[in-house]
Amino acid sequence: MASFTLNGRPVTVDADPAMPILWVVREKIGLSGTKFGCGIAQCGACTVHLDGQPVRSCSTPVSAAEGRSVTTIEGIAGPEGELTKIQQAWISEQVPQCGYCQSGQIMAATALLRDNPNPSDDDIDAAMSGNICRCGTYTRIRRAIKVAAGQEQPLSERLAGEA
Ligand code: FES
Ligand code: FES
Repeated sequence: MASFTLNGRPVTVDADPAMPILWVVREKIGLSGTKFGCGIAQCGACTVHLDGQPVRSCSTPVSAAEGRSVTTIEGIAGPEGELTKIQQAWISEQVPQCGYCQSGQIMAATALLRDNPNPSDDDIDAAMSGNICRCGTYTRIRRAIKVAAGQEQPLSERLAGEA
């Protein structure tokens, strides 16, 4: 059994303590937003927050979450479903291509901006370099983080300015 808080709600699941958090949230609880990429802590597709810190859920046993708080991509919007600035910027900058890596990217970016609301390029590189995108959306990810931080205008405003 494992008991922890998931997206603000207490949960108890019948799971082997060694089972990765990824499979507990996907298979036992049915939240499929967190993705399985490499399975060896190398790609970031499976990123969730554990007590607010980004972790690789494919390689973190559910025993590590006992009594703690796990947040997945399904849990970052507001109580009425209000999108965060990061989520809004991901939409405005049309970041995803296939989308597979994107929940992990958003979870990493969310933690970055919470801890550092005005990140430099180096800060963004340091926070995001472990999240791989096989579609190469890195330029749009960087721009979306800057839009969410208020450092750049959203795409629609930039286009309106050029019209
Ligand atoms: S699936 Fe966890 S880091 Fe790749
Ligand atoms: S959008 Fe396809 S892997 Fe990142």
